[in-house]
Amino acid sequence: DMMLAAACAAAYLLGSIPTGLLLGKACGIDVRHEGSGNIGATNLYRTAGRKVGVLTLIGDCLKGLAPVLAAHYYAPATDLAAWVGLAAFCGHVFSVFLRFKGGKGVATALGVFLALSPLAVAIALAVFLVLVLKWRYVSLGSVAAAAVMPLAVYVLHGGRAMLLVTGIVAAIVIVRHRANIKRLVDGTESKFKA
Ligand code: G3P
Repeated sequence: DMMLAAACAAAYLLGSIPTGLLLGKACGIDVRHEGSGNIGATNLYRTAGRKVGVLTLIGDCLKGLAPVLAAHYYAPATDLAAWVGLAAFCGHVFSVFLRFKGGKGVATALGVFLALSPLAVAIALAVFLVLVLKWRYVSLGSVAAAAVMPLAVYVLHGGRAMLLVTGIVAAIVIVRHRANIKRLVDGTESKFKA
């Protein structure tokens, strides 16, 4: 219906704002040509420093969190929030401002699911932290956390839309990490330096 379409369009536009690219530009760098070339918090942390990395994480997370909270508020107990979350996530990964290129979606998915299923996030975050603290590869933690999410949501919730959205988000996050996965296998992935 119209309400769903309008809400998803707004969330998609918000998600499309490339926080990391803009913050990098403010520091005089085009992050697409630095480090991994990604516009996400990990690469901003790597190439522009800790403060900019954390700001990118917060900004990209809010792009997912805010529209889902708004959808929850205006249409509680419906599937609207899940679809709005998917739209915000797709904005980040396929940005209308970047000719449908974008990031890997981890921080925006974090924001979306903090609102949709904080318990599932707690489980995925635990997996992420254990792996990143042990191996120092953010990408490994991201891929594993993404893989765990559909299972966690399946166990914790009944909703079909919710499970479908989680599956789509997880699949896109994992596919977006294909270059990272290849580097992990080759042993050439860059480690996180705090
Ligand atoms: O959130 C993206 C992260 O999992 C990997 O980032 O820059 O190392 O490809 P990057």
